[in-house]
This record gives sequence, C-alpha cells and structure tokens, in this order.
Amino acid sequence: MKITKICCIGAGYVGGPTMAVIAQKCPHIQVTVVDLNEQRIKDWNDPNTDNIPIYEPGLSQIVAEARGRNLFFSTEVDKAIDEAQVIFISVNTPTKTYGKGKGMAADLKYIELCARQIAKVAKHNKIVVEKSTLPVRTAEAIKSILDNTGNGVQFQILSNPEFLAEGTAVTDLLNPDRILIGGDTTPEGEVAINALVDVYANWVDKDKILTTNVWSSELSKLTANAFLAQRISSINAMSELCEKTGADVNEVAKAIGMDSRIGPKFLKASVGFGGSCFQKDILNLVYIAKSYGLNEVADYWEQVIIMNDHQKRRFSNKIVQTLYNTVADKKITFLGWAFKKDTNDTRESAAIYVADDLINEQAKISVYDPKVSRNKMLSDLDYLQTRSVEENSNALTIFDNAYEASKGAHAIAILTEWDEFTTYDWHKIYDSMHKPAFLFDGRNILDAKEVESIGFIYKGIGS
Ligand code: UDX
Ligand code: ADP
Repeated sequence: MKITKICCIGAGYVGGPTMAVIAQKCPHIQVTVVDLNEQRIKDWNDPNTDNIPIYEPGLSQIVAEARGRNLFFSTEVDKAIDEAQVIFISVNTPTKTYGKGKGMAADLKYIELCARQIAKVAKHNKIVVEKSTLPVRTAEAIKSILDNTGNGVQFQILSNPEFLAEGTAVTDLLNPDRILIGGDTTPEGEVAINALVDVYANWVDKDKILTTNVWSSELSKLTANAFLAQRISSINAMSELCEKTGADVNEVAKAIGMDSRIGPKFLKASVGFGGSCFQKDILNLVYIAKSYGLNEVADYWEQVIIMNDHQKRRFSNKIVQTLYNTVADKKITFLGWAFKKDTNDTRESAAIYVADDLINEQAKISVYDPKVSRNKMLSDLDYLQTRSVEENSNALTIFDNAYEASKGAHAIAILTEWDEFTTYDWHKIYDSMHKPAFLFDGRNILDAKEVESIGFIYKGIGS
C-alpha cells in the first residue's frame, strides 16, 4: 500500500510541526492539517510564516518551503478525512476537569468526537493513527466507535506516539531517537504498519523504526514521560537537601551524571517541570494503575507529581521568606513565563503557580517573556480560578522587554531558561531596582558569584 494522501486532525504543537516535517521530507505525499479553530488555521496560512501560531526554532522555514506545495492547512475537516488514506489524530487530551477521574484521567471527548466524525464521513478503508498521548487501550475505544457507527468501511488503528520535545521539535522530528508504531498483529494490521513505516523511512533509518503491538506502543509513551519526569523530581528532591546541608546541586548532578549508567541528561534542578505531557501522563498512569487496584504502583508515580508541586511552592515560599516575610505591594519581576525556553507554550508552566502564590500574598507581578502573549499569561492565571479576572489583570503587568519590567522591582525571579537572559547588562538592571535587590534564579542559568559581585542578593535552586 502506497500512501499519497495524509490528513491530520488538530493543528497544535504536535500536529503542526509533525505534519510540516512529513510534508517537507515526502514531497510526493499531500498533507492536509485541519482544525476546528478557524483563527488557528488562518494563522498557519499567514503569508508571513514568522506569524504561524506556534513558535519552534526552524519551523517557519519548513512551512515556507512546503506550504502550498504539498502542505495545506484547512478548516474543511470532512473533505480532508474523505480524501486521505491515513488520518492522524492530534487533538488535545487534557486532564479531565469533571466527573469520574477528575484531575487525573485524560479527557477523551475530543478524541471521541474525531472518531465519530471519521466514522460518519469515511467511504473508503482508512488507517487511523493515534498521535496524541492517550491512555492505554484508547485504540480499542476508537475502534469500537469506528466499527459500530460507520458504513461498513474497514479501519486499521495504529498508535504512533510523538516523542518530540517542544523547543526542539524540528530537530527531534528530523533526527528522532526512534519512531514507534503499534498496530494489530493481523495481516491487515501489518499492512497498515508497513505503510506508515514507509512514510517515515523517507528520512529515518529503518533500524530506528520500532513496531510493536498497540498496547505496548501506548504504554511506552506514558512510561518514557514518567521516567523523564521522575529524574527531574529526584534531582529536585536533592536540591532541597543541598540547600540545607551546603552541598551544591549542580555539582551533585555533574558527579552522578558522569556515571554512564545514570547519564547527564534530565538532571537539571529547576523550579519544577511543566509542559503539556509530564503531569498529564503521570496522572494518567496513576489513574490506570488505580483502576487495576495497583495502589502501591499508583502511589509510587504520584509522588513524582507531589514532589513537583512541592518544588514550585518551595520557590514562592523562598521568595516571600527572603523578602522579610512580606511581599505585599512589592514589585516582583518574572523573567520568563513559558514552561521552557524556545517555545510559546505555557501549559503547566511553573511560572503560573509561582505567580498565583505571590499574588495571594498581594505582590505585584511584572512579567517579560520573549514569546508569550499578554492574553495567554492572563488566561493562564484566570484558568486557576483563584480570583476574579479583574483582580488578575490588576496584579499582573506585562512588558515587552526585561529592562522596563525590572525598573523599581524589589526582586527578579527567573522562571524560564531563555538564552537571552544570560546576555543582559545585569549592572544596568541592578541599578534600576529597589535596594536591596534580590535575584531568584529558578533555572540556575546565571553565575551566582558574578551577579553577587554586582550587588544582588542571589538565591538559586539547590545551593
Ligand atoms: C516532553 C518529553 O521530553 C517528550 O519526549 C514528550 O513527547 C513530551 O513531553 P516537553 O514537555 O516538550 O517534552 O519538554 P521537556 O524538554 O521534556 O521538558 C519538560 C519540563 O521539564 C520543562 O519544564 C523543563 O524545563 C523541565 N526540565 C527538563 C527540568 O526542569 N530539568 C531537566 O533536566 C529537564
Ligand atoms: P497538542 O500539544 O496535543 O498538539 P494543542 O492544544 O496544541 O495540543 O492542539 C490540539 C488542536 O486540536 C487544537 O488546535 C484544537 O482546536 C484541535 N481540535 C480538537 N478537537 C478537534 C476536532 N474534533 N476536529 C478538529 N480539530 C480539533
């Protein structure tokens, strides 16, 4: 089976970059990305590709090359479904905010809507690929909807989880560590698996393309994210012990990272991990474990989240304590709002929770982030429903550069590790601040000695 037409439902952080790279690497395949959100599609079609809705280094050039050639963005969902041989589902699967499994299970309503729409529209056999992170056995639910509501069309369901990290999406997609494709072990399942393998084989070595059964593939995604998040929570747990004992967490991380069995990656102590995957996937894992009665397994993984919440709160507490136990009416400047550098995504960003804590203490927060919009920051705070929209907008002032944002501040808190923060004239920033001037480095990106020599009172993570 040769694939010439692909459709992707969902033009977000996963669907957008993934389809752009497939289109660039496979000029013979027509790739159409559809979304219900008209504004989002309009933005993807902006003549100036610097204005596309998702910021990722290198993405705008790829879109410029492929868009209009074999890459299309559209709101015509039915048409794209009808024409495609392969349909990727890349819609959001947020944590449920209501009902059974509230706060833990993934909300599958968007996935179910997609499956129903595919069932309604499809007239020819199709391969449906789960791209969004889904709890184990979702494929079964999708299959049941497709098989029981459709018009006799044959569907093959594949799981092809995305391992890209935001901020490095393009390089991760171009040079993946592995591609994972799970499918049925029936002859029809194998045909579908091979068809998708051939798409990726246009630019990925065959020995990096792993094929498994559907459930292994679904669970591998949750497992990978749980293991990565666990390392961050482990080093963050050590960061607190370091602060009490006089050890330096960066030195500890370096020392253990040189043990080749442990390795150096994902050992950077921080104000806490964020992003759309780690928390959601671990909560999912916890929910699945609980639903099988595996309470110890559930508690074990839940502790990774508890540690992460603790780390964020510890950071805001440290700010309050250091500023003589009161931040009421003090101006505190946040550098960074995104959950990590090189992305405009803010989902689960530590900055949101630290800001919320400090606003509860009646601080005035000023923020500068190179890529996050004002509306996004305010809606992130509003989403927590801690206080009224008006109170949030009074407590948060947003600037378009760090120097302006820092004027007259009592303290600066670094929440995201944007490279540009290390290039600033910190003397100039210090001179414009209230004295004593405090610098809370939630990412350990500045040299403590250097900024202390300017006059700052410096507090990092874990030293
Ligand atoms: C993650 C996985 O890495 C990716 O494979 C999966 O497909 C989706 O989830 P992402 O959320 O984009 O990707 O970013 P990642 O680089 O993993 O960082 C997650 C969070 O952990 C960020 O807030 C980051 O700043 C933080 N982090 C990461 C640390 O605090 N310390 C580290 O050492 C590494
Ligand atoms: P992710 O990080 O998983 O890519 P995003 O929220 O960035 O998540 O993107 C998911 C996209 O899926 C959103 O743009 C949303 O509008 C879109 N979407 C959700 N449900 C549907 C649907 N039934 N049909 C088309 N698009 C959908």
